[in-house]
Amino acid sequence: MSNDRYSQLDLYRRLLLQARPYWLHLFGTLALSLLSTPLALLAPLPMKLAVDSVLGSQPLPRLVQRFLPSSSPNSPATSLLFVVVTLLLITFLRQLQGTLSGVLQTYTGERLLQDFRAKLFRQVERLSLSYHDDKGTSDSAYRIQYDAYCIQAVTLGSILPLINSSITLVGMVYVIARMDWQLALVAMTVSPILFMLTRTFRRPLRQRWRAIKELDSSAMSVVHEVLGAIRVVKAFGREDHEHQRFVRGSSERLAAQVRVAFVQSGFDLLLGMTTATGTAAALWIGVMHVRSGVLTLGALLVVMAYLSQLYSPLSTLSKLLTDLQSALVSAERTFAVFDEVPEVIERRNARSITRASGALALRNVCFSYGSAPVLRGISFDVSPGIRVGISGATGAGKTTLASLLMRFYDPTAGQILLDGVDLRDYKLSDLRNQFALVLQEPVLFSTTIAENIAYARPDATDEQIIEAAKLANAHEFITRLPEGYRTLVGERGMRVSGGERQRISLARAFLRDAPILLLDEPTSSVDVKTEAGIMDAMDRLMRGRTTIMIAHRLSTLEHCDLRLELDRGEVIRMVASGRAPAPEPMLQKTGTT
Ligand SMILES: Nc1ncnc2c1ncn2[C@@H]1O[C@H](COP(=O)(O)OP(=O)(O)O)[C@@H](O)[C@H]1O
Ligand SMILES: [Mg+2]
Repeated sequence: MSNDRYSQLDLYRRLLLQARPYWLHLFGTLALSLLSTPLALLAPLPMKLAVDSVLGSQPLPRLVQRFLPSSSPNSPATSLLFVVVTLLLITFLRQLQGTLSGVLQTYTGERLLQDFRAKLFRQVERLSLSYHDDKGTSDSAYRIQYDAYCIQAVTLGSILPLINSSITLVGMVYVIARMDWQLALVAMTVSPILFMLTRTFRRPLRQRWRAIKELDSSAMSVVHEVLGAIRVVKAFGREDHEHQRFVRGSSERLAAQVRVAFVQSGFDLLLGMTTATGTAAALWIGVMHVRSGVLTLGALLVVMAYLSQLYSPLSTLSKLLTDLQSALVSAERTFAVFDEVPEVIERRNARSITRASGALALRNVCFSYGSAPVLRGISFDVSPGIRVGISGATGAGKTTLASLLMRFYDPTAGQILLDGVDLRDYKLSDLRNQFALVLQEPVLFSTTIAENIAYARPDATDEQIIEAAKLANAHEFITRLPEGYRTLVGERGMRVSGGERQRISLARAFLRDAPILLLDEPTSSVDVKTEAGIMDAMDRLMRGRTTIMIAHRLSTLEHCDLRLELDRGEVIRMVASGRAPAPEPMLQKTGTT
């Protein structure tokens, strides 16, 4: 696993950079939370006044006397009333500060998260197919959904409290030192110990968190995979098996999480004992000082109250540094996504193209997903408007070839030209606009039929959508549905039949009206009668467009002008026929430039 690929400082720097647009929000949150220090310093004062001046015999401090009626400044009743009202007032202010700062913090946190997630999602969309083939969709989903929280955890959950606690700490030490400097000194001796503790625990925690997040993400992929293929799981009766797989993953996670809790509690225990030792020492010395008259009893109470408040930022600081390890692991995982470079990238000064004529040329194209070659030295020419049929056994590389044409992947060697220009020289979106793709397994989204057709062209009018559906022989079945074009097709279009799905996706291709049509075995999963209807529509669709039609049976391709047969990534036969000028067969490998 990626061990410390990023340094801690690196991660902070990059997270803060991401949070930059919200610095005003963050600053406001900090300012509001800083108010808690003076309020915390005031909190134990009513108690001191009650003990020393109401019960005891000390006069009220001069500052306080100014608030009291001059007629009876030191009467016990007035003093007590003052003490009680002050207590209520301080409590009210502390509550108000807490509420306001909580609301602002939530708002800022959500804005940060939303922004960060959106950027992460954008980047994941941009990444090439090879990344997604490799990592799987669930892992990306986990990073977007859960790991993105690190931006909140680090900025609002750590850096702000860190600044806040540091300031509180300095304030508390200063105030205690003014009352009794020896006490302040004793109290502060614990901080180097806390610092050492934090350093020791940081690394093991981070490593354990890394393991947990990986296990979490893989448990989620089991869920995604099973729910996505629930029909197959049920059909083969593998529910129990999948359940076991899930439970096994989550037990590992459970064990890892318990190990973290173990380390964390060990840390908490040492932390608590350290601060308790500090408190005990201070109490010891404090009592001595009260006996010798250096401190009043009320002052000792105040110091003890401050001390507990002094230790709370101290232990916050050290706890934060360990909790932070979980957030930093998430940060590692998100930045790993940001640092991933898409394999298929657009060249600078790429050419734009509005509508290609549709001339394609492949020059000794080779491709492999990993080490084994999938396409080997493929060369052929396609003149505009002709129909090319590609056949071959499954696994021969037909779909791969189609993916290369749309630049889902780039060839490992050789080149592909569209209208005489290398595909890599075009703007990516322009290039993909030249194609309409119909897949073996049509992909629908969980929305209405109309919107599914309009996926090809979001600004299409209703008339255009209906026109496209008519051309695709889909209008008839759509209007027979009770809700017509507004019928919801369900997730991945599961509520309409396979043939219907295919016709909707053909309508999409009609609406797209692209110069090049890629048909990847569009009829291989429907029955013969449906196939006839689809072929009829496809015939219409192919008119006036360059068409690449993939089928594993040669018979489906009898109307094609050029027929290629692929076998294990090589063109083993090329037959030109029909109306178009016969393209020159280029079976021999041509050198690439
Ligand atoms: N995303 C992928 N990652 C790795 N190997 C792949 C991937 N897609 C296909 N392959 C492999 O490439 C070969 C060609 O696949 P494909 O082009 O889908 O064949 P066809 O469409 O002719 O059935 C197969 O051996 C397949 O296992
Ligand atoms: Mg295929």
